[in-house]
Amino acid sequence: MRLYQWLSATMASSMVFVLPMRTRGSLSKCFPKFDNCFQRKLGINTAASRTDRLIKKDEVEPKNGRKTFYTVEEERIEQAQRSVLISCPAKTNEKKFLKYLSRHGDINKYFFYESYGMYAVVEFVHKESLTSLLNGTAIPCINHEATMPFKSRLLSLRNTGSVDQSAPQCQSQTTIPINDLIQRLSNENSIDHQITSLTEMYQLTEENVCLRYLVCSLLKDIAAAYFPECKIRPFGSSVNGFGKLGCDLDMFLDLDDISGRNVKKPKAGLSLEYQTKRAASERAATQSILSVIGECVDQFGPGCVGVQKILQARCPLVRFAHQPSGFQCDLTANNRVAMKSSELLYLYGELDHRVRCLVFSVRCWARAHSITSSIPGAWITNFSLTVMVLFFLQRRTVPILPTLDHLKDLAGPLDKCVIEGNDCTFVSDFTKIPLRDNTETLEQLLQEFFEFYGTFAFSRMSINIRKGREQSKSEVSPLNIQNPFDAALNVSKNVNGTQLERFVGLCRESAWMLQQREFNVPHSQTRAATRDRAPWGLAALLLPSVSQAAGVKVRKNRKREPASERIKSLLESLKNRDDKTTGNGTGGNS
Ligand code: GTP
Ligand code: MG
Repeated sequence: MRLYQWLSATMASSMVFVLPMRTRGSLSKCFPKFDNCFQRKLGINTAASRTDRLIKKDEVEPKNGRKTFYTVEEERIEQAQRSVLISCPAKTNEKKFLKYLSRHGDINKYFFYESYGMYAVVEFVHKESLTSLLNGTAIPCINHEATMPFKSRLLSLRNTGSVDQSAPQCQSQTTIPINDLIQRLSNENSIDHQITSLTEMYQLTEENVCLRYLVCSLLKDIAAAYFPECKIRPFGSSVNGFGKLGCDLDMFLDLDDISGRNVKKPKAGLSLEYQTKRAASERAATQSILSVIGECVDQFGPGCVGVQKILQARCPLVRFAHQPSGFQCDLTANNRVAMKSSELLYLYGELDHRVRCLVFSVRCWARAHSITSSIPGAWITNFSLTVMVLFFLQRRTVPILPTLDHLKDLAGPLDKCVIEGNDCTFVSDFTKIPLRDNTETLEQLLQEFFEFYGTFAFSRMSINIRKGREQSKSEVSPLNIQNPFDAALNVSKNVNGTQLERFVGLCRESAWMLQQREFNVPHSQTRAATRDRAPWGLAALLLPSVSQAAGVKVRKNRKREPASERIKSLLESLKNRDDKTTGNGTGGNS
């Protein structure tokens, strides 16, 4: 049944779609500061009044059993192919809009969001509806400027009829400012609740994930001009379960599955093969492909601004801002290992609900204290930090997570995967993975995480999630986290001694704070003016004062309660290890 067919047809008669075109000149006028695109927050809105049209969590999270990474990916890609992104006037009558669109076919779901104006993502039930919609869409004529007649699924809604007075309900889904977060966490009643609440507030929403896949799909339409069978697949935090609203969109141009790649030549007789140009190496081929696709994105990609081709990087990429979604995008090719890492992180995150919660809290804590940064440098990356959490959870007395070697042992024949000579095989079927009965609370785990890394022998040992145990370091980098799929590589090679010391110092300070009664129970007194509680627990750990205190070797001017035996021994052990642990780390770059 078509949605809104009961609405008056006359209401929608004056709406037309226009394909937005871009030229360098007109865009730079519109967006003089491309960098702002990266900082701007994305607000996604759903029309909350009719629950039948809302995206329900159950649609992507089945009640019985979890879907494998690739099942989720396939479904999302297919959804995105049936979807369109439409820039709408701020005053758009939702019912008229839907009525107008549903002339082309049934709409499965839709939502509105704000990003330099209002946009709607509309997913049709059938792909043919999109063809019908695009057939009736006009290419605009712009006075004194030429347009690139490249047709994409990014459209503009024009209304030449009477101006609508109503606007669709817009619900912001940006991450809340840190001070608001601290306040909201302080009003929770336990540290466990604080941790789950932070995860709920920060994680990607269903709509945001749909939008990420749609942006990949729009980009695929551009790349398909050269490689019709290519796929553009998101990876990293957009899909690994650890993405925070506002995180970048990492994309992988996948040409591995194009037909002809695996055609077997007959042993005898005639056969044909394509004539192709040769490149000196895989890397050179990747650079050429990305260079051309980057040029197309720059010249023809509506909404793609600030395109940079960073082809000399270890992993060549094209970076740009996708203005209608607000995403900073990194497009890579020949990056299969990163895809596999994303799958592995997704698997670990789905195994136990505490994994994602702990990762979100630690990532947020690290960002609050500038342990991580959005600018590349000697900082610990979110990826490294996530691997550290996974390792810690493997190291519990009753492990919460299995080792990668164990996941490899559980793999079936279809899971076999070798990339560039590295065995990346691990099980994908959740039902095959037995879990141990660990009942530790999130509060315990957070506290123990800080103790674990506050006293970890970084100067001697490396972190290895394949084996699930620390190993003697074979190189001099202050922090050594072995690449899960290539033990010879260190994913945190960039981290210098100073940054590691800051991390260790903050872990110690945070562990110490969580042991103090004044920090680890909700304050009964509320602030008279606001009725808000003073920061405590996880909220207190996010305060700037924690970094300041961590930078001071001997804490001064702090009133301490009588210490329990545990606190005493912790302080003692921290004091004793002070020199040992990061002793070699001071030789960093800064
Ligand atoms: P955000 O900070 O939220 O973007 O996290 P992210 O996990 O997406 O990290 P990032 O965008 O830096 O990298 C994207 C993906 O590339 C990661 O999830 C990993 O799969 C992979 N990756 C990043 N850094 C490394 C690295 O140093 N070594 C390896 N092997 N893979 C990496
Ligand atoms: Mg990323």
